[in-house]
Amino acid sequence: MLRIAQTLETQLRAAMARAFPEAAEQASAAGSALDPQLAPASKPEFGDFQANGALPLAKPLGQPPRAIATAIVAQLQADPAFAALCLEPQIAGPGFINLTLKPERLAAEVAARLADARLGVPSVAEAREGTSGQALAPVVVDFSSPNIAKEMHVGHLRSTIIGDSLARVLEFRGHPVLRLNHVGDWGTQFGMLITHLKQVAPEALTTADAVDLGDLVAFYRQAKARFDDDEAFQTTSREEVVKLQSGDPVSLKAWGLLCDQSRREFQLIYDRLDIRLSERGESFYNPYLAGVVADLDASGLLVTDDGAQCVFLEGVSGKDGKPLPLIVQKSDGGFNYATTDLAAIRYRFAAGPEGDGARRVIYVTDAGQASHFAGVFQVARRAGWIPADGRLEHVPFGLVQGEDGKKLKTRAGDTVRLRDLLDEAVERCEADLRRRLQEEGRSEDEAFIAHVAATVGLAAVKYADLSQNRITNYQFSFDRMLALTGNTAPYLLYAVVRIAGIARKGGDLGAAGAGGGTGVDPADSLHFSEPQEWALVRELLKFDAVIAEVEEELLPNRLCTYLFELSQVFNRFYDQVPVLKAEGPTRSSRLALCRLTADTLKLGLGLLGIPTLERM
Ligand code: ARG
Repeated sequence: MLRIAQTLETQLRAAMARAFPEAAEQASAAGSALDPQLAPASKPEFGDFQANGALPLAKPLGQPPRAIATAIVAQLQADPAFAALCLEPQIAGPGFINLTLKPERLAAEVAARLADARLGVPSVAEAREGTSGQALAPVVVDFSSPNIAKEMHVGHLRSTIIGDSLARVLEFRGHPVLRLNHVGDWGTQFGMLITHLKQVAPEALTTADAVDLGDLVAFYRQAKARFDDDEAFQTTSREEVVKLQSGDPVSLKAWGLLCDQSRREFQLIYDRLDIRLSERGESFYNPYLAGVVADLDASGLLVTDDGAQCVFLEGVSGKDGKPLPLIVQKSDGGFNYATTDLAAIRYRFAAGPEGDGARRVIYVTDAGQASHFAGVFQVARRAGWIPADGRLEHVPFGLVQGEDGKKLKTRAGDTVRLRDLLDEAVERCEADLRRRLQEEGRSEDEAFIAHVAATVGLAAVKYADLSQNRITNYQFSFDRMLALTGNTAPYLLYAVVRIAGIARKGGDLGAAGAGGGTGVDPADSLHFSEPQEWALVRELLKFDAVIAEVEEELLPNRLCTYLFELSQVFNRFYDQVPVLKAEGPTRSSRLALCRLTADTLKLGLGLLGIPTLERM
């Protein structure tokens, strides 16, 4: 109902200006306007919206707020457009104005959504059409981003799931989105790894598939251990990094093989979770690193400290109270994670061909990297690489913990491999499903069981992650995420299945509200009377505002909460109000609500990366 809210806001502002012309003039002289303080009603009994703008005017006008509200309401009602939209406003408490939309307006909104595949969510691309003809600037979402030769861990899983969902919401809104996988494919780890492999498994450096990722991870661990206490090994490793970074063909070939090996393993996880990503790893920025440091120098930001090149951060000091440096070039001449991120920021905002021309760049990583990004963002701003309308956002998330509140581990105490974790979710789901089928006396074929278990199992893992406020640590619990009740994927999927069942039992979900070329105003075919129907209508109409909020605040849990509440309101409606047994327009109107609920759940879950089922 975003459009209606905007209309109401304009009407309210005009009514306030008519009621209190002097206050309005004063506000406009100060470069602002009277603010109606319009918000969604805090309780359903207050109607649809409330406007609290009378209260702050009490002092400057020297009048009781209720009198101010009364004057505003009188002006509102004199506006025929308002009278067509709302019932008579009610003044509550100290001077709140409660607004309730006319039932026929709500029905018209429902009809409009039934005929709109976007369910009322406007597309930025459409809004742009015909204005400037200029292409929309892309939004970069930097997510997943595991490290080569290391296992992808649960932190990367969170980044993958959250980042994918944000990318889906932005894409649905019509933004061109660059889904970038900033894999750690450069740097000192390769020096160690190549040096070690040359000695223990040289075939891995010359032949594809000579080792698998599990071995590679083990080799990496051994290499790291040697690096930490063997000076000669350290020296050779450093030389190896220099060779690689200077483009030595043998080193490059070895590096390429190692990357391919990891890449294939990562891809298995992405395929399973239906994640699309474009790999643009750290190595991509290698040619730009020296230029970044030179640029910082030219803008006077660079300071040599203890042999290293760094930029001192403003407003960030260490324990000793001295400003903290962001090192961009180590004393041995090497570049680091921060240099690469600076090069990436510069590239992402820069216009093409050597740049993405983005206006919004979003990073999805664990909260532990917050100070890294704060530092890098600050330096990029001071260097002048961020356009005035450019947005740089770190989207942090908390740790994944086991049910004991400690770091997630296997029973044997090892780190959990993602593949195993996804397998277990699907296996448990399958066991639950077989039990349920037996209890219900249903028989289904194996293909059905496998499909449902895979869909629900992976949905449960994704949803459990997305439904938490991402900032807080989150406790991973198969039992909780697979439960059929509560704020879980199975509960939401079940609501969709329930509606599909109504259609199977003969409910024509498309009957009302569609108009269908009959010449009848589609809204006229919708008739609602029960409070459960109105509650569902109002819940359905919130969808566009929720999407706008997720796009702005990058919190997928808001969408989850909404879909959960929608399912609850739907279930209450369906349990308490006859649908299939109703008759005439009442029946078709109720079926239309069922259809719009299913469409909203499917679209919403789709934006979370979760496909739905017709039966489960
Ligand atoms: N590879 C990093 C890690 O595993 C994440 C990279 C995030 N993206 C970035 N541009 N720094 O922690």
